Amino acid sequence: MFNNMRASIICGSRDGGFTSEMCRSFSKGLAVHGVSSEIFFPLGMNIEHCTGCGACSADGRCVISDDMDAIYEAFEKSSLLILTSPIRFSGPSSVIKTVIDRFQPVWFKGRGHPAYAAALLSGGSMTPYFTNTVSILKVFSLTAGMEWLGYLGIPDTDEKETRDVSAPAFDYGKEIALTVIKDP
Ligand SMILES: Cc1cc2nc3c(=O)[nH]c(=O)nc-3n(C[C@H](O)[C@H](O)[C@H](O)COP(=O)(O)O)c2cc1C
Repeated sequence: MFNNMRASIICGSRDGGFTSEMCRSFSKGLAVHGVSSEIFFPLGMNIEHCTGCGACSADGRCVISDDMDAIYEAFEKSSLLILTSPIRFSGPSSVIKTVIDRFQPVWFKGRGHPAYAAALLSGGSMTPYFTNTVSILKVFSLTAGMEWLGYLGIPDTDEKETRDVSAPAFDYGKEIALTVIKDP
């Protein structure tokens, strides 16, 4: 099956951990239904923090010129945004939060954006407190004009091998792809 839909996946952790494994498996799940995707690793990119200078209130553009430009460009061209994070002290990683804060221009002025957003989360404990992180990612998504499709949260990674997160993330990728394709 082929379609023109594409997704941007933002990995809120290092490459080589559980979260990146979820990103790659999810991407493969999307591909089953012809949705292409690109995974970004902000940890290895030059992305500065939002300083709250407010300059973007004028024209919806960030005055900082850095690797966030690549994410802005992909964001505008994608149908689906996937935000991902390990749980860090019951909240999102600073990596994904830094990227989200740099979307302040979208809050001020709007811009082209994906129709849909969803999240992939992992936590080390048996019962990670996903609620805070889901709340932040969902509110950002709705604020930016995206429909929130939900999240896959995998607990207990402290006791898992990397391969254990792959199958559910792959299946979730297929499921989300079908939703997006059905109602593009
Ligand atoms: C600084 C730090 C804080 C963490 N806080 C939590 C937490 O509050 N709850 C939890 O279940 N796991 C917590 N963990 C465990 C990670 O969420 C878990 O190991 C995650 O799957 C790691 O993903 P990664 O391999 O992509 O980095 C924490 C890990 C670190 C390094």
